Amino acid sequence: MTVTVQTLGRVAIVTIDNPPVNAASQAVRAGLVDAVAQTEADATIDAVVLTCAGRTFVAGADVREFDLPPVAPHLPDVIAAIEAASKPWIAALHGSALGGGLELAMGCHHRIAEASARMGLPEVTLGLVPGAGGTVRLPRLVGAELALTMIAGGKPISAQEALDAGLIDAIAQGDLVQKACDLAAAGVDLRPTLVKLVIGKSDATRFDRIASDMRRKARGQVSVPAAIDALERGLTLPATEALAAERATFLSLKTSEQARALRHIFFAERAALSDPRTKATPRPIARIGVIGGGTMGAGIASLCLMRGLTVTLIERDASSLDAGSARVRSTLESSAKRGLLVDLDATFARFDAATDDSALADVDLVIEAVFEEMEVKKQVFRRLDAVTRPDAILATNTSYLDVTEIAAGLRDPSRAIGLHFFSPAHIMKLLEIVLPASVADDVVATAARLSKTLGKIGVFSGVCDGFIGNRIMSAYRTEADRLLIDGASPEQVDAAMRDYGFPMGVFEMQDLAGLDIAWAMRKRRLAQGLSGEGDIRIADRLCEQGRFGRKTDAGWYDFTDGKATPSDAVTAIIVEERQAMGVADAVFETKDVMTRILGAMVQEAEAVLAEGIASSAADIDVVMVNGYGFPRWKGGPLFTVR
Ligand code: NAI
Repeated sequence: MTVTVQTLGRVAIVTIDNPPVNAASQAVRAGLVDAVAQTEADATIDAVVLTCAGRTFVAGADVREFDLPPVAPHLPDVIAAIEAASKPWIAALHGSALGGGLELAMGCHHRIAEASARMGLPEVTLGLVPGAGGTVRLPRLVGAELALTMIAGGKPISAQEALDAGLIDAIAQGDLVQKACDLAAAGVDLRPTLVKLVIGKSDATRFDRIASDMRRKARGQVSVPAAIDALERGLTLPATEALAAERATFLSLKTSEQARALRHIFFAERAALSDPRTKATPRPIARIGVIGGGTMGAGIASLCLMRGLTVTLIERDASSLDAGSARVRSTLESSAKRGLLVDLDATFARFDAATDDSALADVDLVIEAVFEEMEVKKQVFRRLDAVTRPDAILATNTSYLDVTEIAAGLRDPSRAIGLHFFSPAHIMKLLEIVLPASVADDVVATAARLSKTLGKIGVFSGVCDGFIGNRIMSAYRTEADRLLIDGASPEQVDAAMRDYGFPMGVFEMQDLAGLDIAWAMRKRRLAQGLSGEGDIRIADRLCEQGRFGRKTDAGWYDFTDGKATPSDAVTAIIVEERQAMGVADAVFETKDVMTRILGAMVQEAEAVLAEGIASSAADIDVVMVNGYGFPRWKGGPLFTVR
């Protein structure tokens, strides 16, 4: 039985049991309708407690049902039945009450939650708006402004925030269901949220400002403005009208291309890391060594500390060590300020720094993030081979280099793996786990589990130059250079990419990251006789003039007080290179930009898939969405062509 009813004195306990997350599937909805009928008919029952078995309250709708026609009873009707009951319903919340789960709880007359519970309406992240009264009931409980950030921003809140805002009535200390039953037995009134009148916006100017900011940042994602519109109706129209309009929007968005794309990514992220090798028993990981305290090493060290691990940072000399430690400290401090870290001192107490490798004698895993040079990496691995325990895992954060070759220098190459983090490592969600042929199964399993410990979305990649993501990015960067030769301007390319939904265009991105890094790589590859990134020399010429991007106030754009403007100097270089390549000046159609950029991405992605570097098309989409700014609501490059 998915929904059961037990009695405890004059209180009925209605329990939803639909593992793993108690999604509000058809069976749950039908069970709840029966439970309402049963408890209404039973004269020995005075009040009802609604609770869930397992690790969470209802964490949302059953996303798998979204691709099918809706089947009755529909959630709005179930909630309406609960709200109209003649006996008070008390929702007892633990884990996550999200989407339809929170809407269900808001249909109840009281809400009590465990201190660790989280509540939210994340429908926008699936290309939807709440579809069962969320945009009407939530603002009546918490006010217009918080409802706006929760509904149009999709951000969940903690139990304490929910209590402060009026979303829940109490936080339960001790046994949640018992506390809810005590409350029920003590007698609570019927207090439906909906009967409250139209509420409006308490500070319309502020609300409108936040809303217009959110509309702008949505960059073409339709669910965000749709959610704001639905909330505005929830604030200003009579409830029945607003509810009907909300439902209509929900149903029309459910079958939209964007919602389908977002569902694709939702499932793709959950299906990633399903390699059979992850069935092996993972090695225990508590103590981490990080080599190199630069941008990446410091970020990785901070992340590991924030996730409860113990970290020893190794640098090549005392001053680099001080600089690296300071970076870690400052990352932790800013994370603490943003509420991402509870106890700064306790976290920093798990950090240690040294210039001597012997400090790594007892670590479980080492991640190296030293300079991107094969010889330097090999040397570091040889050193690690000598000082670490033989069962310690040795990982490289290399962006491009051959992990098999780095591993080959070890006495036991099976303990080497690639862990490719993205910058900033404590924030970016993606982790490419690069698997050389030599890697042991339990090392693969350990890396997969570590990815979860670190809160990352992990994707396995085979070994090739640049792995999945950087390889595809190199391909479309080359195409962007070709666009310049064919008549496009950097600002035209960037604007087209932004219009498509990227947070920034490929040239703006290079200005932000610094052109010198890729230049050094091109020179190194050329020296090693490897193929470069095409034969277009525009970027090289910018670098030769010291135009490294924002940090030098000149790159693809000119910068004045941090503001980018198109550069005549760059235009002149482009024209010269265009002429040198014998291309006549052409007027370039903006609509061709994304066709060609996407085409280059898709072509390289297909090659990555065909070569077995990625194990599925969905994995590639997950990489491009979570590591490279590909708009999530477009589903990833391969989703667009499948
Ligand atoms: P970085 O130049 O900021 O830091 C490198 C650090 O390693 C420096 O602090 C240096 O003192 C230290 N180091 C160099 N040789 C050492 C040795 N033998 N022993 C101990 N410490 C040593 O470089 P960044 O950007 O942090 O990159 C590090 C690695 O991470 C590279 O392999 C890079 O390709 C990769 N990576 C970089 C990303 C980025 O966005 N910067 C993203 C993903 C990977």
